Amino acid sequence: MSSGSAAGWGESIAQAAEALRKARHVCVLTGAGISAESGIPTFRDALTGLWSKFSPQELATPEAFARDPETVWSWYEWRRELVRQAQPNAGHLALAELARRVPGLTLVTQNVDGLHQRAGSQGVLEYHGNILRDRCTVEQIVAERSEDTRTGLPRCAACGGLLRPDVVWFGEAIPAGPMTLAAAAAEDCDVFLSVGTSSLVYPAAGLAEVALRRRATVVEINLNETDLSPHADLVLAGPSGQMLPALLQAMS
Ligand code: APR
Repeated sequence: MSSGSAAGWGESIAQAAEALRKARHVCVLTGAGISAESGIPTFRDALTGLWSKFSPQELATPEAFARDPETVWSWYEWRRELVRQAQPNAGHLALAELARRVPGLTLVTQNVDGLHQRAGSQGVLEYHGNILRDRCTVEQIVAERSEDTRTGLPRCAACGGLLRPDVVWFGEAIPAGPMTLAAAAAEDCDVFLSVGTSSLVYPAAGLAEVALRRRATVVEINLNETDLSPHADLVLAGPSGQMLPALLQAMS
């Protein structure tokens, strides 16, 4: 493992760039950290303002929604507004460019903000869904909404069932398609990039473990040390909006 000291960065970036230049298949896993520079708070940041009394771990659960759908929906409407106003940053753009420079790249994201797609990434595997979509709690499909003027809660335009955001809450299963494709990519890749994720939430955090077992070169980009850091081959300790463009530059 390389250190994140200022002197160490250049060397680690050069080594990571070398691994990427030789790579046949790169698997990238991103987390909330990559969108932090677009102004979307991470899950471990304390919430501010209106929502400072709550923690995401209390709101993003099926139990919270069953108990108090009004509060959970208000939180999601606030987060949706942040997402709509946000723009992809240099980190998102660099990953879209990286896909054009290597033979194969699978981008798995735990983020629900759609910023990778807006930056031009294709075939993004949305591990935790997408906050801008609504899902019918009765039919379990993505649905059009109609407002219930009595309660203010969104209802399915087709069947009248209560809608929820199309995201994966704590304790819920990952959608089968993204889960299978991401697991296959972690098995197959020769470089695994873990970007802006605390590596605490499973099964996403297990993807890096698969790549380590398969002897892929595991590169972590994070502002802080995580549970993955001691096991990663290379650690780039800094903001993804700087580290990813620097990696691209070092590749050329
Ligand atoms: N550049 C790189 N890393 C950053 C930056 C940045 N600019 N800003 C923050 N980070 C790092 C933090 O150090 C932290 O390790 O990003 C990570 C964010 O961690 P989490 O908030 O735990 O986000 P994530 O790993 O995506 O969470 C996983 O948990 O709450 C659930 O479903 C939710 O998808 C989420 C999942």
